[in-house]
Amino acid sequence: MDFFFKPLTPAQKLKNSLLHIDSHIRSLSCPPSSKEQRKISNQLSKDGYVILHEYLSEDLLGKAQAHIKNSLEYGNFEFPVFAQSNIDKIKHKEIIDNHFLESDEHLFKMGLAFDKEDFTNLDEVVQTFKPSIFKIPFPSQSAEFSKIWLDEFILGVINCYMGLTPKLLEAYIRRNYPSEFKRTNHYWHRDLNHRSHLLKVFIFFSDCTIDNGPHEYIRGSHKDLTINGKRFFEEKEVDKIVPPDSSDRIKSIVKAGTIVIEDTRGLHRAIIPKKGYRDLGFAVFAPVPTYSILNTPCYYNISKDNYNRLSDFQKKFIPKGNILEK
Ligand SMILES: [Fe+2]
Repeated sequence: MDFFFKPLTPAQKLKNSLLHIDSHIRSLSCPPSSKEQRKISNQLSKDGYVILHEYLSEDLLGKAQAHIKNSLEYGNFEFPVFAQSNIDKIKHKEIIDNHFLESDEHLFKMGLAFDKEDFTNLDEVVQTFKPSIFKIPFPSQSAEFSKIWLDEFILGVINCYMGLTPKLLEAYIRRNYPSEFKRTNHYWHRDLNHRSHLLKVFIFFSDCTIDNGPHEYIRGSHKDLTINGKRFFEEKEVDKIVPPDSSDRIKSIVKAGTIVIEDTRGLHRAIIPKKGYRDLGFAVFAPVPTYSILNTPCYYNISKDNYNRLSDFQKKFIPKGNILEK
């Protein structure tokens, strides 16, 4: 795979427009962006990120937090889960050196993950297996979660920034605990989901301090391609060019309810929590080439009832294959 990011040539831009003709046509029937949305979109173009402090209403935040707590306490999250307690630093050196690129299913086969049958209660599995991440699926029936992931003001910003109407391709929540081992996204990297149009929306469901794993982004690195050409970068490689005390290193030290919109083709990483945990929602937006619109990989579902409650504008962002018939 080519890890070298280059600005698109005029010919590539034209090819992209043709590939995403469907997303361009969809954008024509969207509401026009407001002055405030254009302002945020301009900031995104300049810096590569925007922080909307304490954006969620208290009511919506409270309901989402209750769902996350409930899901974790009843074991309603994705299995298998990587178990740091089972790592032998000598025996598993190759996996450690390979940044744990293997899937959790593969780690499970190697005895390095635990399964649903091993779940007793949250505190006990955290103590016993020392998990670093729990992944909670997007609740397909929840009107509240749809309101957050498909917030119309933010969708308008996304439309304005991209100049087309993309799809919400991924939706999930993660709880991160302290980790002894660095896994893929703990390293500085650029996301590869889409080379010409990509935005991620991070939704903070817990307060985030320097101790419980802020997200870090290099301001302007979606355009500045000085650090380039590798899947992952070592800390010292980045520190040499953007020193740790630089004001261009943006750490999301924010209150619960804050939303960060980010062009993650820029350099970013997840800092490992030192204590406590961090609950974070992820929404990934990118256009789907018209030719593959019918076989887009499905990473979350939305129930038919829930879909029917959405506005026409919100519906444009949901791939048809993600709507559950029942
Ligand atoms: Fe990433």
